[in-house]
Amino acid sequence: MPTALITGITGQDGSYLTELLLEKGYTVHGIVRRTSLLERSRLRHLFADPEVYEKRLFLHYADLDDATTLRRVILSVAPDELYHLAGQSHVGLSFEIPESTCQLTSLSTLRILEIIRDLANPPRFYHASSSEVFGSPKESPQNEDTPFRPVTPYGYAKAFATQMVGIYRNSFGIHAVNGITFNHESPRRGENFVTRKVCRAAAAIKKGLTSHLSLGDTSARRDWGWAPDYVKGMWLSLQHSPAGDYVLATGRQHSVQDVVEAAFATVDLDWRQHLKRDERFVRKADPCNLVGDPGKARRELGWEVSIDFEEMIRRMTEAELENLG
Ligand code: NAP
Ligand code: GDD
Repeated sequence: MPTALITGITGQDGSYLTELLLEKGYTVHGIVRRTSLLERSRLRHLFADPEVYEKRLFLHYADLDDATTLRRVILSVAPDELYHLAGQSHVGLSFEIPESTCQLTSLSTLRILEIIRDLANPPRFYHASSSEVFGSPKESPQNEDTPFRPVTPYGYAKAFATQMVGIYRNSFGIHAVNGITFNHESPRRGENFVTRKVCRAAAAIKKGLTSHLSLGDTSARRDWGWAPDYVKGMWLSLQHSPAGDYVLATGRQHSVQDVVEAAFATVDLDWRQHLKRDERFVRKADPCNLVGDPGKARRELGWEVSIDFEEMIRRMTEAELENLG
């Protein structure tokens, strides 16, 4: 059975992708960085499974800025497929830490491409690109041919990495794919992304644990989908030949305000009594008009989304109610 190596295995997407690949019979190796806490909560259920952990799922320490260790892990695992998901994934924070965002997002991708370029049998390579590369696009919806116009340090770093992937595919014949994914969410989403923040707050207010929710710009709009669908798209995109880039998106846009209304409706509360604006959460620049055209992924990969926006926010809010007990 095939072997996969995942960077960012402890993240939202890494954890769902691990489950998907294990279900498909893969042996899965993941790269984790050293942290002061050993808690890797999104993988906890897999560690507890004696048939899986250290039988078909293995973890290796490495950091994205440590080329020697990355090379050693890649050589020893010799993966058939390498999913590069790790990085500084918070767009707002990229204004506070632009240099490390670029190091981790742009240069780490180039570093891994350089390592696999030297291999006799390079793995198929998936890069987690982002709709942030489109920034403020002149055309809508965006597809694989839409020009890049990033407006954030994160978006610019992803644009560099995405274009490098294209260069290594065309110049060195590496089977390399950019998944240009639009926002995708789940109960495993990081707590400082807007959907999870809103769903958590709605549940906490319902339970009487807090009284209000502070947000930045609630008129901001995004194309939000269900993360487990997107990891299927990642896997499908690597199975297809010849290698290419794929937009993964729902094709539908909603506002942050819609997220608020859907989450508060789930807990049967009036959002007007709890929502506050907080300028600290307003971005210095924010992409506008982001909405994806997933037509190529549908036609070539047979990729489809399984649930809509309202159902996604309902599931996320109910998961928060359950977490709070
Ligand atoms: P996430 O939950 O924030 O996970 C990021 C992962 O990267 C974590 O496993 C993190 O490890 C790891 N990481 C960060 N810095 C690292 C370093 N220096 N060395 C090794 N590992 C490091 O992100 P996600 O939502 O799963 O997204 C996965 C990728 O897709 C990211 O590159 C993101 O930018 C991109 N993307 C996401 C979306 C989306 O809507 N989710 C859309 C487009 C693109 P720790 O657990 O130790 O922090
Ligand atoms: N996080 C956050 N917190 N965002 C807020 C808030 C708040 O309090 N209030 C309003 N927003 C707005 C942001 O300004 C943005 O317009 C929108 O909500 C979504 O913000 P995030 O959930 O932080 O996601 P993102 O769109 O910036 O980035 C995510 O999607 C990208 C793909 O387009 C991340 O997953 C990126 O890694 C990913 O590439």
